Amino acid sequence: MKRNVSIFDTTLRDGEQSPGATLTTDEKVKIALQLALLRVDTIEAGFPIASNDDFEAVKLVAQTVDGPYVAGLCRAVEKDISRAWDAVKHAAKPCIHTFIATSDIHLQYKLKVSREEALAMAVSAVRFARNCTDRVEFSAEDASRSDWDYLCRVTEAVIDAGASVVNLPDTVGYAEPEEFGRMIRYVREHVPNIDDAVISVHCHNDLGLAVANSLEAVRNGAGQVECTVNGIGERAGNASLEELVMNFKTRAEYFDADTNIDTCQIFKTSQMVSRLTGITIQRNKAIVGRNAFAHESGIHQHGVLSNPLCYEIMNPEMIGKKTEIVVGKHSGKHAVRDGLSSLGYTFEEHQLNTITERIKALADKQKTVLQEDIIAIADDVLNESRMGVAAVKLEEVTVTTGNKTTPTAVITVDYAGEKKIAAAYGAGVIDAVAKAMTKVYGAPLKLEEYELKAITGGTDALADVSVLFTDEEGREYHTRGLDEDIVMASVKALVNGINQMEREKRR
Ligand code: KIV
Ligand code: ZN
Repeated sequence: MKRNVSIFDTTLRDGEQSPGATLTTDEKVKIALQLALLRVDTIEAGFPIASNDDFEAVKLVAQTVDGPYVAGLCRAVEKDISRAWDAVKHAAKPCIHTFIATSDIHLQYKLKVSREEALAMAVSAVRFARNCTDRVEFSAEDASRSDWDYLCRVTEAVIDAGASVVNLPDTVGYAEPEEFGRMIRYVREHVPNIDDAVISVHCHNDLGLAVANSLEAVRNGAGQVECTVNGIGERAGNASLEELVMNFKTRAEYFDADTNIDTCQIFKTSQMVSRLTGITIQRNKAIVGRNAFAHESGIHQHGVLSNPLCYEIMNPEMIGKKTEIVVGKHSGKHAVRDGLSSLGYTFEEHQLNTITERIKALADKQKTVLQEDIIAIADDVLNESRMGVAAVKLEEVTVTTGNKTTPTAVITVDYAGEKKIAAAYGAGVIDAVAKAMTKVYGAPLKLEEYELKAITGGTDALADVSVLFTDEEGREYHTRGLDEDIVMASVKALVNGINQMEREKRR
Protein backbone atom coordinates (compact mmCIF):
# COMPACT_ATOMS: atom_id res chain seq x y z
CA MET A 1 0.00 0.00 0.00
CA LYS A 2 1.24 3.49 -0.90
CA ARG A 3 2.26 5.79 1.93
CA ASN A 4 0.18 8.92 2.33
CA VAL A 5 2.15 12.16 2.44
CA SER A 6 0.32 15.03 4.16
CA ILE A 7 0.31 18.40 2.48
CA PHE A 8 0.71 21.30 4.90
CA ASP A 9 0.01 24.47 2.95
CA THR A 10 1.57 27.68 4.22
CA THR A 11 0.63 29.99 1.33
CA LEU A 12 -1.30 32.23 3.72
CA ARG A 13 1.56 32.48 6.22
CA ASP A 14 5.04 31.91 4.74
CA GLY A 15 3.70 32.66 1.23
CA GLU A 16 2.26 35.93 2.40
CA GLN A 17 5.72 36.82 3.73
CA SER A 18 6.83 37.24 0.08
CA PRO A 19 7.83 40.87 -0.41
CA GLY A 20 4.81 42.84 -1.69
CA ALA A 21 2.31 40.01 -1.27
CA THR A 22 -0.17 41.38 1.25
CA LEU A 23 -3.58 39.77 1.16
CA THR A 24 -6.77 41.19 2.66
CA THR A 25 -8.76 39.05 5.08
CA ASP A 26 -11.38 38.40 2.38
CA GLU A 27 -8.70 37.27 -0.03
CA LYS A 28 -7.23 34.94 2.58
CA VAL A 29 -10.61 33.35 3.17
CA LYS A 30 -11.13 32.96 -0.56
CA ILE A 31 -7.77 31.21 -0.95
CA ALA A 32 -8.42 29.07 2.14
CA LEU A 33 -11.74 27.85 0.70
CA GLN A 34 -9.96 26.97 -2.52
CA LEU A 35 -7.21 25.14 -0.58
CA ALA A 36 -9.95 23.08 1.06
CA LEU A 37 -11.29 22.19 -2.41
CA LEU A 38 -7.75 21.24 -3.39
CA ARG A 39 -7.88 18.93 -0.35
CA VAL A 40 -4.71 20.02 1.45
CA ASP A 41 -4.41 18.39 4.88
CA THR A 42 -3.47 21.55 6.80
CA ILE A 43 -3.86 25.25 6.06
CA GLU A 44 -1.46 27.46 7.99
CA ALA A 45 -3.58 30.60 7.99
CA GLY A 46 -1.18 33.09 9.59
CA PHE A 47 0.81 34.24 12.58
CA PRO A 48 -1.89 35.54 14.97
CA ILE A 49 0.39 37.47 17.35
CA ALA A 50 1.94 39.40 14.43
CA SER A 51 -0.95 41.87 14.07
CA ASN A 52 -4.66 42.25 14.71
CA ASP A 53 -5.33 41.80 10.99
CA ASP A 54 -3.43 38.52 11.03
CA PHE A 55 -5.35 37.38 14.09
CA GLU A 56 -8.72 38.23 12.51
CA ALA A 57 -7.79 36.52 9.25
CA VAL A 58 -6.76 33.29 11.01
CA LYS A 59 -9.94 33.38 13.09
CA LEU A 60 -12.15 33.90 10.04
CA VAL A 61 -10.41 31.11 8.12
CA ALA A 62 -10.87 28.85 11.16
CA GLN A 63 -14.59 29.72 11.33
CA THR A 64 -15.17 29.32 7.60
CA VAL A 65 -13.13 26.40 6.35
CA ASP A 66 -14.15 22.81 6.77
CA GLY A 67 -11.96 19.77 6.09
CA PRO A 68 -8.30 20.58 6.66
CA TYR A 69 -6.62 21.41 9.97
CA VAL A 70 -6.32 25.16 10.42
CA ALA A 71 -2.97 26.06 11.98
CA GLY A 72 -1.75 29.28 13.57
CA LEU A 73 1.98 29.92 13.98
CA CYS A 74 3.44 31.10 17.30
CA ARG A 75 6.84 31.43 18.94
CA ALA A 76 7.55 29.14 21.88
CA VAL A 77 6.19 31.60 24.44
CA GLU A 78 2.90 31.43 26.31
CA LYS A 79 1.42 34.73 25.18
CA ASP A 80 2.01 33.84 21.49
CA ILE A 81 0.53 30.38 21.97
CA SER A 82 -2.57 31.74 23.73
CA ARG A 83 -3.11 34.25 20.94
CA ALA A 84 -2.75 31.53 18.30
CA TRP A 85 -5.20 29.32 20.18
CA ASP A 86 -7.74 32.16 20.45
CA ALA A 87 -7.67 32.39 16.66
CA VAL A 88 -7.66 28.70 15.68
CA LYS A 89 -9.97 27.35 18.38
CA HIS A 90 -12.94 28.17 16.13
CA ALA A 91 -11.83 25.54 13.60
CA ALA A 92 -13.38 22.09 13.36
CA LYS A 93 -9.79 20.80 13.31
CA PRO A 94 -7.50 23.32 15.05
CA CYS A 95 -3.71 23.07 15.16
CA ILE A 96 -1.12 25.07 17.10
CA HIS A 97 2.23 25.37 15.37
CA THR A 98 4.95 26.53 17.75
CA PHE A 99 8.63 26.98 16.93
CA ILE A 100 12.05 27.81 18.31
CA ALA A 101 15.42 27.77 16.58
CA THR A 102 17.86 24.93 17.29
CA SER A 103 21.00 25.96 15.40
CA ASP A 104 23.87 27.39 17.43
CA ILE A 105 24.01 30.43 15.21
CA HIS A 106 20.38 31.32 15.99
CA LEU A 107 20.69 30.42 19.68
CA GLN A 108 23.80 32.53 20.13
CA TYR A 109 23.02 35.60 18.04
CA LYS A 110 19.23 35.76 17.78
CA LEU A 111 17.79 34.18 20.92
CA LYS A 112 20.87 34.53 23.15
CA VAL A 113 20.05 31.35 25.06
CA SER A 114 21.94 28.10 25.60
CA ARG A 115 20.98 24.79 23.98
CA GLU A 116 19.56 23.58 27.33
CA GLU A 117 17.46 26.72 27.72
CA ALA A 118 16.07 26.41 24.19
CA LEU A 119 15.22 22.76 24.80
CA ALA A 120 13.37 23.65 28.01
CA MET A 121 11.46 26.43 26.21
CA ALA A 122 10.47 24.02 23.43
CA VAL A 123 9.16 21.44 25.90
CA SER A 124 7.18 23.91 27.98
CA ALA A 125 5.71 25.50 24.83
CA VAL A 126 4.49 22.14 23.58
CA ARG A 127 3.07 21.26 27.03
CA PHE A 128 1.30 24.60 27.21
CA ALA A 129 -0.12 24.18 23.69
CA ARG A 130 -1.26 20.64 24.50
CA ASN A 131 -3.47 22.10 27.25
CA CYS A 132 -5.38 23.79 24.43
CA THR A 133 -5.53 21.10 21.74
CA ASP A 134 -4.29 17.64 20.74
CA ARG A 135 -2.86 18.77 17.42
CA VAL A 136 0.42 20.49 18.20
CA GLU A 137 3.20 20.86 15.68
CA PHE A 138 6.69 21.81 16.84
CA SER A 139 9.24 23.30 14.43
CA ALA A 140 12.98 23.30 15.06
CA GLU A 141 13.80 26.44 13.09
CA ASP A 142 17.06 26.21 11.11
CA ALA A 143 17.15 22.43 11.74
CA SER A 144 19.38 21.84 8.71
CA ARG A 145 22.18 23.91 10.29
CA SER A 146 21.71 22.41 13.76
CA ASP A 147 23.83 19.79 15.44
CA TRP A 148 22.11 16.49 14.58
CA ASP A 149 22.44 14.95 18.05
CA TYR A 150 21.02 18.07 19.67
CA LEU A 151 18.20 18.04 17.09
CA CYS A 152 17.45 14.43 18.08
CA ARG A 153 17.32 15.39 21.76
CA VAL A 154 14.89 18.24 21.06
CA THR A 155 12.76 16.01 18.83
CA GLU A 156 12.53 13.28 21.46
CA ALA A 157 11.69 15.78 24.21
CA VAL A 158 8.92 17.58 22.31
CA ILE A 159 7.35 14.27 21.28
CA ASP A 160 7.40 13.25 24.96
CA ALA A 161 5.74 16.58 25.77
CA GLY A 162 2.93 15.77 23.32
CA ALA A 163 3.86 17.13 19.86
CA SER A 164 2.07 15.13 17.16
CA VAL A 165 4.11 16.61 14.30
CA VAL A 166 7.80 17.55 14.43
CA ASN A 167 8.90 19.80 11.63
CA LEU A 168 12.56 20.00 10.60
CA PRO A 169 12.93 23.04 8.35
CA ASP A 170 15.68 24.05 5.99
CA THR A 171 14.94 27.64 6.99
CA VAL A 172 17.64 29.33 4.93
CA GLY A 173 17.60 26.95 1.95
CA TYR A 174 21.13 25.72 2.69
CA ALA A 175 20.74 21.94 2.52
CA GLU A 176 21.60 19.65 -0.39
CA PRO A 177 19.14 16.83 -1.18
CA GLU A 178 21.26 13.80 -0.24
CA GLU A 179 22.47 15.49 2.95
CA PHE A 180 18.97 16.62 3.95
CA GLY A 181 17.61 13.11 3.35
CA ARG A 182 20.41 11.73 5.50
CA MET A 183 19.48 14.14 8.30
CA ILE A 184 15.86 12.94 8.26
CA ARG A 185 17.01 9.33 8.32
CA TYR A 186 19.38 10.11 11.21
CA VAL A 187 16.54 11.62 13.26
CA ARG A 188 14.32 8.66 12.43
CA GLU A 189 16.99 6.20 13.51
CA HIS A 190 18.15 8.03 16.65
CA VAL A 191 14.94 9.25 18.27
CA PRO A 192 13.40 6.33 20.19
CA ASN A 193 9.82 7.70 20.26
CA ILE A 194 9.83 8.95 16.64
CA ASP A 195 6.91 6.69 15.67
CA ASP A 196 4.66 8.68 18.02
CA ALA A 197 4.83 11.70 15.72
CA VAL A 198 4.87 12.58 12.05
CA ILE A 199 8.13 14.02 10.68
CA SER A 200 7.47 17.11 8.62
CA VAL A 201 9.84 19.16 6.45
CA HIS A 202 9.69 22.80 5.40
CA CYS A 203 12.23 23.77 2.76
CA HIS A 204 13.16 27.17 1.39
CA ASN A 205 14.35 27.67 -2.13
CA ASP A 206 17.43 29.88 -1.80
CA LEU A 207 19.55 27.45 -3.83
CA GLY A 208 16.61 26.26 -5.96
CA LEU A 209 16.43 22.95 -4.06
CA ALA A 210 13.28 23.27 -1.92
CA VAL A 211 11.31 20.65 -3.87
CA ALA A 212 14.27 18.29 -4.31
CA ASN A 213 15.09 18.48 -0.59
CA SER A 214 11.47 17.83 0.40
CA LEU A 215 11.21 14.83 -1.93
CA GLU A 216 14.43 13.36 -0.59
CA ALA A 217 13.11 13.86 2.95
CA VAL A 218 9.98 11.88 2.06
CA ARG A 219 12.13 9.08 0.65
CA ASN A 220 13.88 9.00 4.00
CA GLY A 221 10.76 8.88 6.15
CA ALA A 222 9.12 12.32 6.32
CA GLY A 223 5.32 12.01 6.31
CA GLN A 224 4.43 15.66 5.78
CA VAL A 225 5.72 18.36 3.44
CA GLU A 226 5.17 22.06 3.99
CA CYS A 227 4.75 24.08 0.83
CA THR A 228 3.06 27.00 -0.89
CA VAL A 229 1.07 27.42 -4.07
CA ASN A 230 3.37 28.60 -6.90
CA GLY A 231 6.28 28.25 -4.44
CA ILE A 232 5.85 31.80 -3.12
CA GLY A 233 7.38 32.73 0.22
CA GLU A 234 10.22 34.49 2.04
CA ARG A 235 13.11 35.44 -0.24
CA ALA A 236 13.33 32.80 -3.03
CA GLY A 237 10.18 31.13 -1.70
CA ASN A 238 9.14 27.75 -0.33
CA ALA A 239 8.77 24.31 -1.89
CA SER A 240 6.06 24.54 -4.52
CA LEU A 241 2.91 22.57 -3.72
CA GLU A 242 2.08 21.73 -7.32
CA GLU A 243 5.57 20.46 -8.07
CA LEU A 244 5.63 18.22 -5.01
CA VAL A 245 2.17 16.82 -5.64
CA MET A 246 2.78 16.13 -9.32
CA ASN A 247 6.06 14.39 -8.50
CA PHE A 248 4.17 11.99 -6.24
CA LYS A 249 1.45 11.52 -8.83
CA THR A 250 3.64 11.14 -11.89
CA ARG A 251 6.32 9.01 -10.20
CA ALA A 252 4.05 7.08 -7.84
CA GLU A 253 6.05 3.87 -8.27
CA TYR A 254 9.32 5.65 -7.44
CA PHE A 255 8.09 7.26 -4.23
CA ASP A 256 5.55 4.58 -3.36
CA ALA A 257 3.60 7.47 -1.88
CA ASP A 258 0.69 9.72 -2.77
CA THR A 259 -1.23 12.68 -1.39
CA ASN A 260 -4.92 13.49 -0.84
CA ILE A 261 -4.77 16.40 -3.30
CA ASP A 262 -7.41 16.75 -6.02
CA THR A 263 -4.94 17.62 -8.76
CA CYS A 264 -7.75 18.93 -10.99
CA GLN A 265 -7.91 21.99 -8.69
CA ILE A 266 -4.23 22.86 -9.08
CA PHE A 267 -4.49 25.19 -12.05
CA LYS A 268 -7.36 27.19 -10.62
CA THR A 269 -5.66 27.51 -7.23
CA SER A 270 -2.42 28.62 -8.85
CA GLN A 271 -4.18 31.29 -10.94
CA MET A 272 -6.12 32.55 -7.94
CA VAL A 273 -3.03 32.84 -5.74
CA SER A 274 -1.13 34.62 -8.49
CA ARG A 275 -3.95 37.03 -9.13
CA LEU A 276 -4.67 37.86 -5.48
CA THR A 277 -1.05 38.16 -4.35
CA GLY A 278 0.01 39.95 -7.53
CA ILE A 279 2.94 37.56 -7.91
CA THR A 280 3.05 36.49 -11.51
CA ILE A 281 4.00 32.96 -12.48
CA GLN A 282 7.16 32.61 -14.51
CA ARG A 283 6.27 31.34 -18.00
CA ASN A 284 8.38 28.21 -17.84
CA LYS A 285 7.45 27.36 -14.23
CA ALA A 286 6.97 23.59 -13.91
CA ILE A 287 3.33 22.41 -13.84
CA VAL A 288 1.55 25.80 -13.79
CA GLY A 289 3.63 28.07 -16.05
CA ARG A 290 2.03 29.12 -19.32
CA ASN A 291 4.55 27.13 -21.31
CA ALA A 292 4.49 24.02 -19.11
CA PHE A 293 2.49 22.04 -21.67
CA ALA A 294 3.28 24.01 -24.84
CA HIS A 295 5.24 22.18 -27.52
CA GLU A 296 7.03 24.59 -29.80
CA SER A 297 9.31 22.47 -31.95
CA GLY A 298 7.90 20.69 -35.00
CA ILE A 299 9.49 17.39 -33.99
CA HIS A 300 7.81 17.53 -30.58
CA GLN A 301 4.44 18.54 -32.04
CA HIS A 302 4.58 15.64 -34.49
CA GLY A 303 5.52 13.21 -31.72
CA VAL A 304 2.76 14.42 -29.40
CA LEU A 305 0.15 14.16 -32.16
CA SER A 306 1.22 10.57 -32.93
CA ASN A 307 1.20 9.61 -29.27
CA PRO A 308 1.25 12.12 -26.38
CA LEU A 309 3.49 9.75 -24.40
CA CYS A 310 6.36 10.63 -26.78
CA TYR A 311 6.91 13.96 -25.03
CA GLU A 312 4.27 14.35 -22.32
CA ILE A 313 4.72 12.83 -18.87
CA MET A 314 1.59 14.62 -17.61
CA ASN A 315 -1.28 16.26 -19.38
CA PRO A 316 -2.89 19.63 -18.67
CA GLU A 317 -6.25 18.06 -17.79
CA MET A 318 -4.59 16.41 -14.78
CA ILE A 319 -4.17 19.83 -13.19
CA GLY A 320 -7.57 21.09 -14.39
CA LYS A 321 -6.20 23.11 -17.29
CA LYS A 322 -8.20 23.04 -20.49
CA THR A 323 -6.22 23.72 -23.61
CA GLU A 324 -9.12 24.03 -26.00
CA ILE A 325 -11.01 27.24 -26.66
CA VAL A 326 -13.80 27.32 -24.13
CA VAL A 327 -16.02 30.23 -25.09
CA GLY A 328 -16.69 32.05 -28.35
CA LYS A 329 -18.85 35.09 -28.97
CA HIS A 330 -21.86 32.88 -29.68
CA SER A 331 -21.64 30.96 -26.44
CA GLY A 332 -24.21 31.89 -23.86
CA LYS A 333 -24.59 32.16 -20.13
CA HIS A 334 -24.98 28.37 -19.81
CA ALA A 335 -21.55 27.71 -21.30
CA VAL A 336 -20.01 30.25 -18.95
CA ARG A 337 -21.91 28.83 -15.97
CA ASP A 338 -20.81 25.27 -16.80
CA GLY A 339 -17.22 26.32 -17.43
CA LEU A 340 -16.96 28.24 -14.15
CA SER A 341 -18.81 25.63 -12.10
CA SER A 342 -16.44 22.95 -13.35
CA LEU A 343 -13.62 25.11 -12.03
CA GLY A 344 -15.27 25.22 -8.63
CA TYR A 345 -16.63 28.78 -8.81
CA THR A 346 -19.85 29.74 -7.07
CA PHE A 347 -21.63 32.98 -7.91
CA GLU A 348 -24.95 34.80 -7.84
CA GLU A 349 -27.04 35.22 -10.97
CA HIS A 350 -26.22 38.95 -11.31
CA GLN A 351 -22.49 38.18 -11.05
CA LEU A 352 -22.83 35.51 -13.74
CA ASN A 353 -24.58 38.09 -15.95
CA THR A 354 -21.71 40.56 -15.55
CA ILE A 355 -19.09 37.86 -16.15
CA THR A 356 -20.93 36.70 -19.30
CA GLU A 357 -21.27 40.26 -20.63
CA ARG A 358 -17.57 40.88 -20.13
CA ILE A 359 -16.61 37.58 -21.75
CA LYS A 360 -18.80 38.32 -24.75
CA ALA A 361 -17.38 41.81 -25.08
CA LEU A 362 -13.92 40.29 -25.08
CA ALA A 363 -14.96 37.60 -27.58
CA ASP A 364 -16.22 40.33 -29.90
CA LYS A 365 -12.76 41.85 -29.94
CA GLN A 366 -10.56 38.83 -29.43
CA LYS A 367 -12.64 36.13 -31.23
CA THR A 368 -11.52 33.36 -28.92
CA VAL A 369 -11.61 33.41 -25.17
CA LEU A 370 -9.44 30.92 -23.33
CA GLN A 371 -9.71 29.45 -19.85
CA GLU A 372 -7.17 31.92 -18.44
CA ASP A 373 -9.31 34.85 -19.71
CA ILE A 374 -12.43 33.43 -18.10
CA ILE A 375 -10.69 32.87 -14.77
CA ALA A 376 -9.26 36.39 -14.84
CA ILE A 377 -12.64 37.98 -15.63
CA ALA A 378 -14.52 35.88 -13.08
CA ASP A 379 -11.97 36.70 -10.36
CA ASP A 380 -12.18 40.37 -11.27
CA VAL A 381 -15.98 40.49 -11.14
CA LEU A 382 -16.23 38.47 -7.92
CA ASN A 383 -13.50 40.58 -6.38
CA GLU A 384 -15.35 43.79 -7.22
CA SER A 385 -18.51 42.43 -5.58
CA ARG A 386 -16.59 41.39 -2.50
CA MET A 387 -14.95 44.78 -2.12
CA GLY A 388 -18.40 46.33 -1.70
CA VAL A 389 -19.16 49.99 -2.34
CA ALA A 390 -16.17 51.75 -3.87
CA ALA A 391 -15.30 55.26 -2.67
CA VAL A 392 -13.87 56.19 -6.07
CA LYS A 393 -15.68 55.38 -9.31
CA LEU A 394 -14.05 56.10 -12.63
CA GLU A 395 -16.25 58.16 -14.97
CA GLU A 396 -14.03 59.28 -17.81
CA VAL A 397 -10.44 59.05 -18.89
CA THR A 398 -8.74 60.63 -21.90
CA VAL A 399 -5.09 60.23 -22.76
CA THR A 400 -3.00 61.74 -25.52
CA THR A 401 0.43 60.71 -26.62
CA GLY A 402 2.61 60.61 -29.70
CA ASN A 403 6.19 61.06 -30.83
CA LYS A 404 5.82 64.88 -30.83
CA THR A 405 3.28 65.22 -28.02
CA THR A 406 3.78 65.38 -24.28
CA PRO A 407 1.82 62.47 -22.80
CA THR A 408 -1.18 63.81 -20.85
CA ALA A 409 -4.13 62.31 -19.00
CA VAL A 410 -7.44 63.84 -17.94
CA ILE A 411 -9.43 61.88 -15.42
CA THR A 412 -12.95 62.34 -14.06
CA VAL A 413 -14.07 60.35 -11.05
CA ASP A 414 -16.91 60.25 -8.62
CA TYR A 415 -15.21 60.49 -5.23
CA ALA A 416 -17.68 59.71 -2.44
CA GLY A 417 -20.49 61.41 -4.40
CA GLU A 418 -18.41 64.39 -5.49
CA LYS A 419 -17.24 64.83 -9.09
CA LYS A 420 -13.49 65.44 -9.36
CA ILE A 421 -11.47 66.19 -12.48
CA ALA A 422 -7.69 66.23 -12.71
CA ALA A 423 -5.19 66.57 -15.54
CA ALA A 424 -1.48 65.85 -15.58
CA TYR A 425 1.37 65.22 -17.93
CA GLY A 426 4.14 62.69 -17.46
CA ALA A 427 7.04 60.78 -18.95
CA GLY A 428 4.51 58.44 -20.59
CA VAL A 429 0.74 58.00 -20.48
CA ILE A 430 0.87 55.66 -17.48
CA ASP A 431 2.97 58.18 -15.57
CA ALA A 432 0.50 60.92 -16.57
CA VAL A 433 -2.44 58.77 -15.41
CA ALA A 434 -0.72 58.04 -12.08
CA LYS A 435 -0.04 61.75 -11.54
CA ALA A 436 -3.64 62.69 -12.38
CA MET A 437 -4.83 60.05 -9.90
CA THR A 438 -2.59 61.52 -7.21
CA LYS A 439 -4.24 64.90 -7.80
CA VAL A 440 -7.70 63.36 -7.60
CA TYR A 441 -6.81 61.60 -4.38
CA GLY A 442 -5.23 64.71 -2.89
CA ALA A 443 -2.32 62.89 -1.24
CA PRO A 444 0.93 61.52 -2.65
CA LEU A 445 0.93 57.99 -4.07
CA LYS A 446 4.33 56.63 -4.98
CA LEU A 447 4.26 54.08 -7.78
CA GLU A 448 6.94 51.54 -6.80
CA GLU A 449 6.26 48.79 -9.32
CA TYR A 450 4.20 48.48 -12.47
CA GLU A 451 3.75 45.24 -14.35
CA LEU A 452 1.79 44.60 -17.52
CA LYS A 453 0.90 41.11 -18.64
CA ALA A 454 -1.19 39.83 -21.56
CA ILE A 455 -3.36 37.07 -20.12
CA THR A 456 -3.26 34.82 -23.17
CA GLY A 457 -0.71 36.50 -25.42
CA GLY A 458 -1.25 38.42 -28.65
CA THR A 459 -1.97 42.12 -29.20
CA ASP A 460 -5.73 41.67 -28.70
CA ALA A 461 -5.34 39.82 -25.39
CA LEU A 462 -6.74 40.93 -22.04
CA ALA A 463 -4.25 43.19 -20.30
CA ASP A 464 -3.58 42.49 -16.65
CA VAL A 465 -1.82 45.33 -14.86
CA SER A 466 -0.49 44.99 -11.34
CA VAL A 467 0.79 47.97 -9.43
CA LEU A 468 2.56 48.33 -6.13
CA PHE A 469 2.46 51.76 -4.60
CA THR A 470 3.02 53.32 -1.22
CA ASP A 471 1.05 56.00 0.58
CA GLU A 472 2.52 58.94 2.49
CA GLU A 473 3.16 56.71 5.53
CA GLY A 474 5.03 54.15 3.45
CA ARG A 475 2.24 51.52 3.60
CA GLU A 476 2.26 49.23 0.56
CA TYR A 477 -0.76 48.55 -1.65
CA HIS A 478 -0.78 45.94 -4.32
CA THR A 479 -3.69 46.02 -6.73
CA ARG A 480 -4.60 44.92 -10.23
CA GLY A 481 -6.71 46.04 -13.15
CA LEU A 482 -8.04 43.99 -16.04
CA ASP A 483 -9.12 45.36 -19.41
CA GLU A 484 -8.63 44.85 -23.13
CA ASP A 485 -6.91 48.22 -23.21
CA ILE A 486 -3.61 48.71 -21.38
CA VAL A 487 -4.34 52.29 -20.38
CA MET A 488 -7.73 51.32 -18.98
CA ALA A 489 -6.23 48.33 -17.16
CA SER A 490 -3.67 50.69 -15.61
CA VAL A 491 -6.33 53.21 -14.59
CA LYS A 492 -8.44 50.44 -13.06
CA ALA A 493 -5.45 49.14 -11.08
CA LEU A 494 -4.86 52.62 -9.66
CA VAL A 495 -8.55 53.19 -8.89
CA ASN A 496 -8.66 49.79 -7.14
CA GLY A 497 -5.61 50.87 -5.16
CA ILE A 498 -7.20 54.12 -4.02
CA ASN A 499 -10.33 52.22 -2.99
CA GLN A 500 -8.17 49.80 -1.02
CA MET A 501 -6.49 52.72 0.73
CA GLU A 502 -9.87 54.22 1.55
CA ARG A 503 -11.01 50.92 3.04
CA GLU A 504 -7.81 50.73 5.11
CA LYS A 505 -8.43 54.27 6.37
CA ARG A 506 -11.98 53.41 7.38
CA ARG A 507 -10.73 50.32 9.19
O1 KIV B 1 11.34 28.64 7.54
C1 KIV B 1 11.04 28.30 8.69
O2 KIV B 1 11.84 27.74 9.46
C2 KIV B 1 9.69 28.61 9.15
C3 KIV B 1 9.30 28.04 10.48
C4 KIV B 1 8.63 29.05 11.33
C5 KIV B 1 8.48 26.81 10.27
O3 KIV B 1 8.94 29.23 8.45
ZN1 ZN C 1 9.64 29.20 6.31
